[in-house]
Amino acid sequence: MRFSESFLSELRARTDIEELIGKYTEIKHRGTRTPVALCPFHTEKTPSFVIYRDTMSYYCFGCGAGGDAITFIKNIERLDYTDAVRFLCEKAGMNMPLDPVDDEANRLRRRCYEANREAARFFHAALFTEEAKEVRAYLDKRRLSPETVKHFGLGFAPDRWDSLVKHMKTKGFTENELVLFDLARKTSKGGTIDNFRNRLMFPIIDLRGNVIAFGGRVLDDSKPKYLNSKDTPVYKKSQHLYALNLAKNNAERRLILCEGYMDVIAMHQAGFTNAVAGLGTAFTKEQISLLVRYCDELTLCFDSDEAGKKATKRALSMLSESPLKLKIMHLADGKDPDEIIKTQGKERMKNIISSAVNDTEFALNDARSRYDVTTEDGKLGFLNEAVTVLADVNNAIERDLYASKLASELDVEKKALEAQIRKQMSFRKKARENAQFGDALKTVLGEEKKTSPNPEAAGNVRAVKAEEIILATLLKHPDYLKKLSGFLSADTFVTEYGKKFFTDITERITSGRSLELFSFGESNENEEMAYLSYLLAKGETIANSLEECRQCAATLTEEKSKKNAPDIKGLSSEEYLQLFKNKRRNNKPEGV
Ligand code: UTP
Ligand code: MN
Repeated sequence: MRFSESFLSELRARTDIEELIGKYTEIKHRGTRTPVALCPFHTEKTPSFVIYRDTMSYYCFGCGAGGDAITFIKNIERLDYTDAVRFLCEKAGMNMPLDPVDDEANRLRRRCYEANREAARFFHAALFTEEAKEVRAYLDKRRLSPETVKHFGLGFAPDRWDSLVKHMKTKGFTENELVLFDLARKTSKGGTIDNFRNRLMFPIIDLRGNVIAFGGRVLDDSKPKYLNSKDTPVYKKSQHLYALNLAKNNAERRLILCEGYMDVIAMHQAGFTNAVAGLGTAFTKEQISLLVRYCDELTLCFDSDEAGKKATKRALSMLSESPLKLKIMHLADGKDPDEIIKTQGKERMKNIISSAVNDTEFALNDARSRYDVTTEDGKLGFLNEAVTVLADVNNAIERDLYASKLASELDVEKKALEAQIRKQMSFRKKARENAQFGDALKTVLGEEKKTSPNPEAAGNVRAVKAEEIILATLLKHPDYLKKLSGFLSADTFVTEYGKKFFTDITERITSGRSLELFSFGESNENEEMAYLSYLLAKGETIANSLEECRQCAATLTEEKSKKNAPDIKGLSSEEYLQLFKNKRRNNKPEGV
């Protein structure tokens, strides 16, 4: 046990979960018993994220995220359990109890941070050596100022087999560590060589200022152009954005998403310090949740070629459920921002940024480009597409504006156009009506429809429901345990989760330990914490009576015997025979 229960209960008492979560997402119905919010862990337009003040837990009925304040901080700040506790401790103005036991995983992560920091220092210093003359010339050619080079911590991986490996060894890192951190790799002959050689190095830095990975660019036209760190103990490339550490503090809460390292750097150098980029992977959901925390408006700045257009559309469709205001830049002639700034200057770039269009205009422009609107057929085709685009626009004024524009552009009756849009909208509204009603609200009202997050729920609907009622009731009324123990034991439960949590809860009750969610966190994974918070949420909507628990126990016994005894009536004669054979085999004495 790392932390004492008295420490955890004090920390719990000093933590306001609603206030804590409110820092990451806007909370509706603040201060009530069940505030709801847009889930900060997935993107949605109607709130499914419920905060339970009484049990100090949260559960998202959309994505199944759940837990207590510690779980929340673990997931949203990507910290391990101990660091999450430390984070809350600092917030609460409490002292951490004596340094908790450092486990192996933690040690490895720390080593990985240290190794990356040391490697970044090494690469940066190498940039100013004699052998990096050409690299410095390359940087000049690309118009990167010395300040920019320093600001982004750029470096050079020398054109030798093992300069980094050698250096890191003198600093006490082992070859195995370097391979694990993707700074080096083993050769077929058993040697260890640098992973990045003769490349311009871009350190990737997380939001707390740790170097977590690298991108390395060749200095000529060889392939691959960029080499990126693979995932390591501290890095998952789908979960980070390049330069977000520098861009996150922009007061306007606007970010520009570019395609690459060099674009971001050129943008920052030109004064557009809110540019970020992905890290050599397609845009991911995790990156969206990250963006939502640091901006309200996101401008997509992808190349104007076919690939860039495709990437834009894909990103827009992924972002369609997000609360972000979206804009799309148009970069002419397949140029990227770096080239535009270099050849046409920052003023031009500023104009391009300010003439970015919203997602409606982008969709209209895109549709228009696919038709020849000088012909009747082309005009009709475009109009049909335009109607579906405008039916998606929620703001009536905006919709009206585009309808007017389109009507005059194509010389059609605005009234007819509006009628078509309305028709399309009412069609969609019907389809949406059910989904519109936030799942959260249904839960609060006890009408939740979502299936249980128990991994075995699919094949055991009835049993899982019974298990959950018992567990939820026990969490609320530990004193029922004595009265139930006559006909209820871990064996009564059908699923692994059921058994596990019944055992855990029972042990806690009998040994007088806490049943607060806060005290479960140390020995349970995120999914299990989410399940516990789901149970707590469920406790709000059921009777929590002894009688109900008794019925559920009976249900479980029934379900269990159903499972054990095959339905003989439904068996074919072959299956029946097989069953008989199995039985005989089972009856043989052991060792025969
Ligand atoms: P680009 O090929 O557009 O390169 O790739 P760039 O950013 O404009 O770089 P310069 O101007 O040629 O130096 C865009 C992004 O795609 C990823 C990198 O993140 C890059 O910044 N990429 C590209 C790779 O990960 N690997 C590659 O081999 C190429
Ligand atoms: Mn480029």
